[in-house]
Amino acid sequence: MTRRTLQPGIYYETEAIPHPSYRLVLLNVSEGAERRHVREALVALMEMLAGLGEGRLRSLEQQQAPASAESLAQYGGLDALIGYGRRLFDDAEHEPALTDAARPDFLSYLHEQGPFPALPWATRRRDAEADIALQLTGLNEAAVNCAAIEIWKLIRDQQLPLSVSESFEGYGRADKRGWLGFHDGVSNMGSGERLAALLASADPDWMRDGTYMAYLRIVVDLGVWEARSRAEQELIVGRDKLTGAALVAVARIEEKLVPVTGPAPDEEGTLAEGAEWRDPPQTTDVVLEASHIARANQTRASPAAPGSFRIFRQGYDFLEELCAEHVELGLNFVGFQRDLRVMQQVLHLPGWLGDANFGGLGDEAAIPLLTVVAGGFYAVPPNGERLPGAGLFGHI
Ligand code: HEM
Repeated sequence: MTRRTLQPGIYYETEAIPHPSYRLVLLNVSEGAERRHVREALVALMEMLAGLGEGRLRSLEQQQAPASAESLAQYGGLDALIGYGRRLFDDAEHEPALTDAARPDFLSYLHEQGPFPALPWATRRRDAEADIALQLTGLNEAAVNCAAIEIWKLIRDQQLPLSVSESFEGYGRADKRGWLGFHDGVSNMGSGERLAALLASADPDWMRDGTYMAYLRIVVDLGVWEARSRAEQELIVGRDKLTGAALVAVARIEEKLVPVTGPAPDEEGTLAEGAEWRDPPQTTDVVLEASHIARANQTRASPAAPGSFRIFRQGYDFLEELCAEHVELGLNFVGFQRDLRVMQQVLHLPGWLGDANFGGLGDEAAIPLLTVVAGGFYAVPPNGERLPGAGLFGHI
């Protein structure tokens, strides 16, 4: 069996079910902080979070069973993952510089003018470009929210050279659907293929067998979406709304476009039949080619193949605001991949998502459905003994 090098919080293994509650806590290093102090501060945070997952709280150190069992029920299973952003490597932001380590080529800031050619910023923007990202995933909302506050308290109590710059929440749904009403995550690669999509190379060497995280907090314009008929929605996504099956053809009946799916595999259907049902066939139909799933996965090749650009998606929906006049909701798009070039290609290349905001009905490729509230790329080094990526801050 191969050693698990990926940090906890990436649920790629066979049968793994992502924890349903999500919180991203973004941290910046205080001005003038020395490297070794930053490293010690991060070790303290990661140890505190690991303790929480085992039901140990700093403020309740003396507690014995059964009280400690209550803490375990509250925090048990909490997963904390640490990533390092472009800003950590930015000498203009840090005097003295925080690291001498090589920055991965595609660990970049998102563009000010617009993060991607067909995916604009939202009017109300927030900042997700930080030195450090801590992804907290847990079994309930209380666990991730209280853990975030434990981070804030530890920084304050021990005067650690860090500050919380932003935080974003999200949740998973039991029915595995998202705001569009469709299943999300239907096609996320067979579990045997996922490591090939995830594991980073040794360039730079400190990232060997780690991975990269792309975080995009994307607002969905529900008004635009709901104005579409079910058939139109299915053509835009490329799947049947009820079953999640890939569309195999588009019938033209009395000038109307009608989505067509293949027969679903029955109870005894083999895995291969299941994959066929999930994966759309090769097509030359312009409408199918323009759909979201056809654009987001053009080649249908295995993640190991060059040019396949596969992303392991682990998204969490959010509801930010709800009143009579306004609703703001969407998806925390969390993608893990072996190289951030993959994300850039998928969201820049024409025919992929470089020239469509989500997907479209053939020539009507630019349905203005999505805007980005905040986003950032993070390097997620392999599991380390005390702190993944500790070597960034010099020798221990
Ligand atoms: C709010 C934004 C988004 C929503 C609501 C959304 C929704 C969906 C839905 C409903 C599916 C079909 C179900 C499935 O196959 O899992 C899907 C598939 C997919 N989406 Fe998105 N998506 C969003 C943004 C993005 C972005 C920004 C990317 C790429 C960077 C992306 C990449 C993919 C990929 C790779 C697939 C699987 C295609 C396949 O292999 O069949 N999505 N998405």
